[in-house]
Amino acid sequence: MYITSVPYSPYRLITAATYFYIPKRVVFEVGGALKLANELKLLGIDSGSSVLMVLDPAIKSLDHTVKTIKGLEEGGYHVDIYTDIEYEPSVDCARRAAEYIRKGDFKAVIGIGGGSTLDVAKVAAAAKDNPTKDVEEFIGMDKIPKRVTPVITLPTTAGTASEISRYTVFTKGAGKVGINGYNVIPDIAVVDPVFTYTLPPRITAGTGLDALSHAVEGMISLDATPMSDMFGLLSIELVFKYLRRAYYKGNDVEARYFMSLAATAAGVPLNVGRTVLGHSISQTFGPQYKVHHGTGCGMTLPYVMEFYLPAIPEKLAVIARAAGIDTTGLCVWGAAEEVIKATWNLVRDLGVPLSLKEIGISKAELEVLAERTIKEWPRPNSPIELTKERVLKVYEAMYEGKLLRVKTD
Ligand SMILES: [Fe+2]
Repeated sequence: MYITSVPYSPYRLITAATYFYIPKRVVFEVGGALKLANELKLLGIDSGSSVLMVLDPAIKSLDHTVKTIKGLEEGGYHVDIYTDIEYEPSVDCARRAAEYIRKGDFKAVIGIGGGSTLDVAKVAAAAKDNPTKDVEEFIGMDKIPKRVTPVITLPTTAGTASEISRYTVFTKGAGKVGINGYNVIPDIAVVDPVFTYTLPPRITAGTGLDALSHAVEGMISLDATPMSDMFGLLSIELVFKYLRRAYYKGNDVEARYFMSLAATAAGVPLNVGRTVLGHSISQTFGPQYKVHHGTGCGMTLPYVMEFYLPAIPEKLAVIARAAGIDTTGLCVWGAAEEVIKATWNLVRDLGVPLSLKEIGISKAELEVLAERTIKEWPRPNSPIELTKERVLKVYEAMYEGKLLRVKTD
């Protein structure tokens, strides 16, 4: 009902080419991981071949993981398991995986884990196909010359969308860098929600809010297209309907299924529109104050929606309808304000702090954070130009834990 071919608000597509990115095949299936051998066959990889499984060490002994490996072995594949994955992996971590894969004769890479693990898997496959390059040379957009080794991704959280994305994130020194572009897009994503059944509430909240941020920020972006917005609206509808349920009752199978769907769907606006100020802010203060990526994005999201309201009220009004808000009788601006409040309430209900004070950031640091935000994470796709003064105002509101104009409960 929300989908229309009429653009809602500024798009760059009027004056520039647009691009749409998604793997060749995306499987959604409860228990889909147990049929991975079929996916390898589809890729033309013969039984008897060796495959490298880049596996999150935290889930190595999970019953579902053990069964997944067994399924591959029963299909005749030799599975080499690689678990040297750091939380928020460094470039060195990617380099070690590159060195490992280059020593073997692997016909495919299978990544099973959260975003960190999938990112290492994606870069390892690229490293295999470019043996003379150091992974450091891949940093940036489309710096990987080629990739032919197939990559299959299985997310074990519902949030990062790394399973379908053209992005990876690595730490380098005190900051973050990305190895991004066409050659890190996986060939097949197998989204099996069973892996998420045991996620603790705190991670469910953080990763779910990361998914919501990808959908909303990807839609706010000037690089959004009507086609990427379709996926964004689907994701937003599902997050507002199911994230509280998944958080409060981890074994709610329906909620887990649709949160997995929401997270993967949000990978499309992420791939096409890319993120805007919300991720810029959270990627600035998050690593410094040890705030989980998605949690930081969730804290920031209502403030950033309010920041963009004057530029894109129509788009926020459409997002309001997707979020389940009855917009009957509301003007565009009124509907937009309602979804900002609804986002605030969702973040609060998930036990995520809504002020920078609460996480120990002092007022004196805000100016430096604002400066770093625009320097380290510029966003040419932002519908409002990001200046230090504007970004500082958002930080000040976040510090106090109060939106500037929109009244919350
Ligand atoms: Fe994110």
